[in-house]
Amino acid sequence: MDAAGPGAQRAVRNVVLYGFKGTGKTAVGQELARLLGWPFVDTDRLVERRAGKPIPRIFDEDGELALRSLEREAVREATGVRPAVVACGGGAVLDPANAEVLRSCGHMVWLRAQLESVLGRAASEDRPLLRGDPRGRAAALLEERTPRYRELAEVVVDTDGLSVPQVARRILEELAERETRTVQVAVPGGRYPVRVGEGVLPLVGLDLCRLGVRRAGLLTHPRLWRLYGGSLAEALRGWGVDVVPVVVPPGERSKSLQTASRVYAELAGAQVDRTGAVVALGGGVVGDLGGFVAGTYMRGVRFVQLPTTLLAQVDASVGGKAAVNVRARGARGAVRNLVGVFWQPEVVVADVATLRSLPLRELRAGLAECVKHGAVRDAALLEWTDRHVGSLLRRHTDLLAELVARNVAVKAEVVAQDERESSGVREVLNFGHTVAHALEAATGYRAYLHGEAVAVGMVVEAELGRRVGVSEGSVAEVLRSVLQRAGLPTQLPQVSAQALVSFMRLDKKTRGGKLRFSMVDRLGHARTGVEVPQEVVTAVLREMGAAA
Ligand SMILES: NC(=O)c1ccc[n+]([C@@H]2O[C@H](COP(=O)([O-])OP(=O)(O)OC[C@H]3O[C@@H](n4cnc5c(N)ncnc54)[C@H](O)[C@@H]3O)[C@@H](O)[C@H]2O)c1
Ligand SMILES: [Zn+2]
Repeated sequence: MDAAGPGAQRAVRNVVLYGFKGTGKTAVGQELARLLGWPFVDTDRLVERRAGKPIPRIFDEDGELALRSLEREAVREATGVRPAVVACGGGAVLDPANAEVLRSCGHMVWLRAQLESVLGRAASEDRPLLRGDPRGRAAALLEERTPRYRELAEVVVDTDGLSVPQVARRILEELAERETRTVQVAVPGGRYPVRVGEGVLPLVGLDLCRLGVRRAGLLTHPRLWRLYGGSLAEALRGWGVDVVPVVVPPGERSKSLQTASRVYAELAGAQVDRTGAVVALGGGVVGDLGGFVAGTYMRGVRFVQLPTTLLAQVDASVGGKAAVNVRARGARGAVRNLVGVFWQPEVVVADVATLRSLPLRELRAGLAECVKHGAVRDAALLEWTDRHVGSLLRRHTDLLAELVARNVAVKAEVVAQDERESSGVREVLNFGHTVAHALEAATGYRAYLHGEAVAVGMVVEAELGRRVGVSEGSVAEVLRSVLQRAGLPTQLPQVSAQALVSFMRLDKKTRGGKLRFSMVDRLGHARTGVEVPQEVVTAVLREMGAAA
């Protein structure tokens, strides 16, 4: 059953700053808005715009009630801007209706300050509520409002002694915790975070600052630069990070030494040095090329991944493998991933909001790898994916975030045991891939997206597993059903079984007259190195639709 329909979609949450007058809401709000690349809305300014005069005059000429009523309208207007950083007048949140509206669409951030700093900062302005006896009135107001402010606060920042950028930074650190699901990936000598969430791309600024990166090459495709890269670069400039755009054409052909060479030249030309970073914004192509360049430019610079395809978010951006394709002497096409490095990112930020612009076919293809993760390692995840497949294809962002986080956890757990693909543990991730690689090669890499070939490959290998007594019969049935519901192919096309087998024999897993597979024995569990005689493979391929 599909419980969560599209109506359950939630938008990115605003940031609502409130607190006593003089705590720096406006300055902090502007700084935050700049760092996030979001608009800034100040309810006091909206009130003044509506009334056509400053707040003290509204107060004097129309009275406090009129002011509060204007404030209510301003709050409603402010919450209509999404996402936005909203600074709220000191009294506005005291109104229960205002508080309710603000809370329902934003993180409530209380900027707290001591009486002395409030008085200090407020001294230069006319504050109607403090007239006469500023100290006494401020103290009374502070006492009166504090309990309510505390009650509403999701985040509290003590602003005394902090600069505006420091307050803004602290708020963003808190938001990063709340807005993202973070999966830690263990790598030799440490670990790095994968942050998953909606609208969270700009948070990468936090990491770049933490790493002391002042200049970064942002590797991406033209379309992704227009959709996300330009505004991200703008936001990062707010963090003091100079962004050098390096735009390469989309498609597998960009995973080449020629393109890498061009990227090196652009980085060097823009004086990106060893303190710099390569930031890859895109799918697996940009991720692989970016990792390869980062691992080799100046003998290695820092690498940050911003994956924007489902496949890259759940698979390609985890594990540290990065390679380009190189043509072997005498071969027709380039050999995929022939030249590469293991190079781990410092951080991965997977913004599921970017999946909204991903072509549906690419989204489906990414789901195939998710089904694979569930099948080899996590039966509950497989069952969950099956249950939510409709909403996932409709891009329900909360569900996509959960999907990505759970899949990253599966892949991270596997690669942590076998970082350099030496112990064989990582081979479980090859389930479906022996057939998939052969199918991709036999169809000239044109007919199938990788994930589509993997979908067919998993069903074929599950049937093969059943034939040789390794896989429970339900494995193929369950996989076929979920993959079909995801709109993925599950049958072999009319390619010759002989051709497929000869491509499989080129695969590194081949030994003697037998072919080796990673197979799911029961859902959630896989076995590696299962050897199957070639004749059995050929027979099953034919039964499953391949031509003689
Ligand atoms: N390193 C690894 O461990 C690993 C694992 C799996 C795959 N890979 C590699 O990943 C590559 C495939 O990656 P992929 O499937 O992400 O393909 P891709 O990078 O080619 O992206 C697919 C297409 O979608 C476009 N696109 C990307 N994000 C978009 C968005 N948010 N909105 C609109 N369009 C968007 C791209 O421009 C491209 O045209 C292969 O080269 C494969 O070898 C690497
Ligand atoms: Zn794959």
